[in-house]
Amino acid sequence: MADEIIVVSGNKRLAGEVAVSGAKNSALKLMAASILARGPVVIHNVPLISDIEMMAQVLHGLGAVIERDGHTLTVDTTDVTKYEAPYEFVSKMRASIAVLGPLIARFGKARVAMPGGCQIGARKIDMHFDGLSSLGVTFDVDHGVLIAQTPHGLHGANVTLDFPSVGATENILMAAVVADGTTIIENAAREPEIEDLVDILCSMGAHIEGAGSSTIVIEGRPLGEFHPCEHTTVGDRIEAGTFLAGGALTGGPVTVRGVDPSFLRMALMKLRMMGCSVETGEDWIRVSRDGRLISTDIQTLPHPGFPTDLQAQFILLASCAEGVSLITENVFENRFMFAAELMRMGADIALEDHHAIVRGVSKLQGAPVSATDLRAGAALVLAGIVAEGTTEIHNIYHIDRGYEDYVGKLTSLGASVRRVGADA
Ligand code: UD1
Repeated sequence: MADEIIVVSGNKRLAGEVAVSGAKNSALKLMAASILARGPVVIHNVPLISDIEMMAQVLHGLGAVIERDGHTLTVDTTDVTKYEAPYEFVSKMRASIAVLGPLIARFGKARVAMPGGCQIGARKIDMHFDGLSSLGVTFDVDHGVLIAQTPHGLHGANVTLDFPSVGATENILMAAVVADGTTIIENAAREPEIEDLVDILCSMGAHIEGAGSSTIVIEGRPLGEFHPCEHTTVGDRIEAGTFLAGGALTGGPVTVRGVDPSFLRMALMKLRMMGCSVETGEDWIRVSRDGRLISTDIQTLPHPGFPTDLQAQFILLASCAEGVSLITENVFENRFMFAAELMRMGADIALEDHHAIVRGVSKLQGAPVSATDLRAGAALVLAGIVAEGTTEIHNIYHIDRGYEDYVGKLTSLGASVRRVGADA
């Protein structure tokens, strides 16, 4: 419900165990990849969040048949005949452009509404264009719709990205798998979600090497060789990092299960530097803290650097730490809107260009605040848990985009947090 809010009673300590869901940023692309195989593609560990529903609608609009059984989605794109992602979806969820590469692979053409601006910066798609153009794709824009065509088919090419863009790497990959010849992507994104996408593509019949490194080599195969498969989505490292931040903030111990600790190496290092104790097992991480949080400097970078999607959560930690932290955002422009909301709760943050200078305060105060994006929303709820008094978080549809049952999971860890109708 769009007008619901989350109400948090503060001064609580999070402790216990929580299971993380499958990674949103992986599952969305795994669903898009299903366009390449005719027949039922079965994807397990898909989170119950609104972004996934949106991607299901995009695929349904193309003609796919989608069934859900709990956290398992079956996507059958056998009867897909359309090759258009309309504005109605792309404007609401930018990740809809992940269908561009697979549609080009399947039909040799695609029509995708231009995503336009976004609250966390310009988020251009020039690298998607440049990479796909190297493979033989031509682009026109007609009344806000991007029209992609392949007049001479798709051919392998050497593509060097200016920046290791996650979305561009994925779109190029999903087209290159059916190109004639070999494609080499240099300066490719190395996020675990790229490896997950490569895994499903290989299970469908693609030949790809080097996923997880900066150089990915793709030997194109005919589309007819692609077949349906079954795949399990990797655990969501950002959801895990969010709960760990909650543990670090309140003392914990908080244990997250269902995520590979190596996905979060840099964030775990920062937690230790901030005075937390961190233990890990094969698929779990536990954080706890006795003394006060200690300030530290952080700069967001492409994986394996510190993830931009944990920046807000760590600005919150820095706000409650002893000393001054310098947080630098290198991935997105304009991703500090969260800081302004946190300042309403008593945080001391000075913003300068893409730097936030955060002076730790002894206590945050509950206040009405607004989620400005998905991760900011999650961090504001955590801020409410540690603050004095009551915090109301508005615009929580952002949180629902990416966190399955956030309120329920936090409640199970001991938070006093509930959803209420805004008018109640
Ligand atoms: C994905 C994630 C998002 C995460 C981000 C970085 C999904 C659905 N979203 O977003 O949660 O924060 O990776 O880890 O998976 N850029 C260009 N030109 C391009 C493409 C990107 O200039 O053609 C810029 C963007 O404006 C941004 C930066 O590169 O400043 C990173 O973007 P990218 O890695 O592509 O992020 P997304 O795939 O959009």
